[in-house]
Amino acid sequence: MRLTKEEQAWLDGGDGPATRRAMEIVVALASIYGAERLIPVESVQISGVSFRNIGDAGLDFLRRWADEGARVRVPTMLNPTAMDMVDWRCQGFDPDFAAKQQQVIDAFARMGVGEGTPVPTCTPYLIGNRPAVGAHVAWAESSAVSFVNSVLGARTNREGGPGAIAAAIVGRTGAYGLHLDANRRATVRVEVRVQPETISDYSALGALVGQQTRKAVPYFQGLALDAADPLREEKLKTLGAAMAATGAVALYHVEGVTPEAAFSIPTPQVSVLRKVTIDDLRSGYALLSDDVDAIDLVWLGCPHASLAEISRVADLVRGQTLRLPLWVTCARPVRAVAVEQGLIDVIEAAGGKVFADACVAIAPVRDLGFTAVATASAKGAYYLRNLAKVDAKFGTVGECVRAAIEGKWR
Ligand code: F3S
Repeated sequence: MRLTKEEQAWLDGGDGPATRRAMEIVVALASIYGAERLIPVESVQISGVSFRNIGDAGLDFLRRWADEGARVRVPTMLNPTAMDMVDWRCQGFDPDFAAKQQQVIDAFARMGVGEGTPVPTCTPYLIGNRPAVGAHVAWAESSAVSFVNSVLGARTNREGGPGAIAAAIVGRTGAYGLHLDANRRATVRVEVRVQPETISDYSALGALVGQQTRKAVPYFQGLALDAADPLREEKLKTLGAAMAATGAVALYHVEGVTPEAAFSIPTPQVSVLRKVTIDDLRSGYALLSDDVDAIDLVWLGCPHASLAEISRVADLVRGQTLRLPLWVTCARPVRAVAVEQGLIDVIEAAGGKVFADACVAIAPVRDLGFTAVATASAKGAYYLRNLAKVDAKFGTVGECVRAAIEGKWR
């Protein structure tokens, strides 16, 4: 692998042990994937933030790296934590867990993540972090990776936890995978014969396509997503999130919609690709729904909710009295705007809560007392089942809110 003089000096320890350790990781990963050089990245998003997932071993690892003097070289963001960093008591977290989660955030802050004030979210693009078409970045959370690659047209592989931290410290990643033109071309054609309407319909569609295409680069045909659709980005974010969960899709194209669709597949070659046909979305909902009627939590905001999504929840619960806990998760700056607009008051008056920073799927859900959770996100349902180990019900936002109002799934 060719390294610049500066990169070689970092690898040789010229910038201290923290940078050397980061270079060793970045170079090792680049070598494994056959990269011939490193490329500068404009920004990094780090996953592996929930204390439930990383535990004491992960926390010690972060602290040691911070103690060694690790500092990020490029703007760096954090994935969600297990809990709302301010309102965790209301979620039922144990103070000991909360203290550990705070220490994880503190370690990242010492490294300069978020310029010392990390804002944990899986939708950094909703709070102003929107790389331009063709920009190289190193992001980690699978739905954010899908969005930045597909909807924004920037370039990233799905970075692992330590790999993303290392990339942030040296501002480099290997030139392989989705950083290269050749790997960004479509490999499967998806013919959509049933028109998804709601945001959760796009999630159900993504669940089916991810399951059938696994690591492919899907090229969607037949999706009616015009530029005037005010929820276009919400639909695309949940579509990508679902494909990343049931498959490992990190990049997709939508004919006439996403920035690289025209480049990704020259028209005469469309017909030679393997074709997947989707003509029913109910099976996408069923795929991620357990056979339970009794649920004890309704969770919306996966990926983290936009202002429009919070507004829709407020409209649905206005004047109602919820029988089940309803949690909406979002980025803290989005929540702040929702507060200004009175949306949080409406949701809380009905008995719901809007939590910042948090992701329910990576929280100790059972320890919080929940065993069955309803959600409008295929990705949320997938991880509730497989990571949080609770039953899941996947439906539309309307069905989820109705369950919260009526106290049971219908
Ligand atoms: Fe985000 Fe958690 Fe969903 S990280 S995409 S809210 S599973």
